Amino acid sequence: MYKKKSFFITFEGIEGSGKSYQSKKLFKKVKSMKLPVIYTREPGGTVAAEKIRQLILDDYYYPGSKEKFDKYTDTLLYMAARNEHIKKKIYPSILKKKIIICDRFIDSTLAYQVYGKGISRNLVSNIHRYILGRIKPDLTFVLKSKLSKAMQRLKKRKKKNRYDRFTKKFYYKIQKAFLKIAQTNKRKYMVVDNSFDTPRTEEIIYKKFIKTYSK
Ligand code: TMP
Repeated sequence: MYKKKSFFITFEGIEGSGKSYQSKKLFKKVKSMKLPVIYTREPGGTVAAEKIRQLILDDYYYPGSKEKFDKYTDTLLYMAARNEHIKKKIYPSILKKKIIICDRFIDSTLAYQVYGKGISRNLVSNIHRYILGRIKPDLTFVLKSKLSKAMQRLKKRKKKNRYDRFTKKFYYKIQKAFLKIAQTNKRKYMVVDNSFDTPRTEEIIYKKFIKTYSK
């Protein structure tokens, strides 16, 4: 028997790293164990935050628009969505002692906005101080992948326009940033190489979850 406690797990990585697939796999597995678990994502996770997500993604992918959000607008929208998500979903779930599996969280802002786009780290940290309170992930999986494999996965997606969003060079930079972030706390982060579509990845993730959760 496991002790009932909240446990916050995040999955991070570039598009095509397989993090959404792997996080859903873990969710199904944990659910099948009859443990209290929820699945959520960022940007999004609540009705209001999903609206903000739509706003951000429309701006990225709408081919006809000449005027794009400024990078600070974009960042503030991610933060606004996160605030809604924390207040309305993450925090209440923590109080209910649930296991939360979240596809992307604060490290995506660090990797994409701070390292990738050069947004002030101070601004991001300060806003996080206000909106996060004491909430922080207990365990973060950083999925890394060979860029050629990630690109291949993206090409297979129905929404092909996503593939055009960033250059390969940008993804290389973002992946490097995720790996750097993971180095800051080796106990909390686990880097998983997901370059190959093998069931081993799921097993590694599940084992790490069990080990950390049952501590
Ligand atoms: P997704 O493809 O994993 O659903 O994520 C949507 C996009 O949002 C993806 O390009 C990464 C980006 N993103 C940021 O740039 N900053 C953030 O803080 C978050 C949560 C996502």
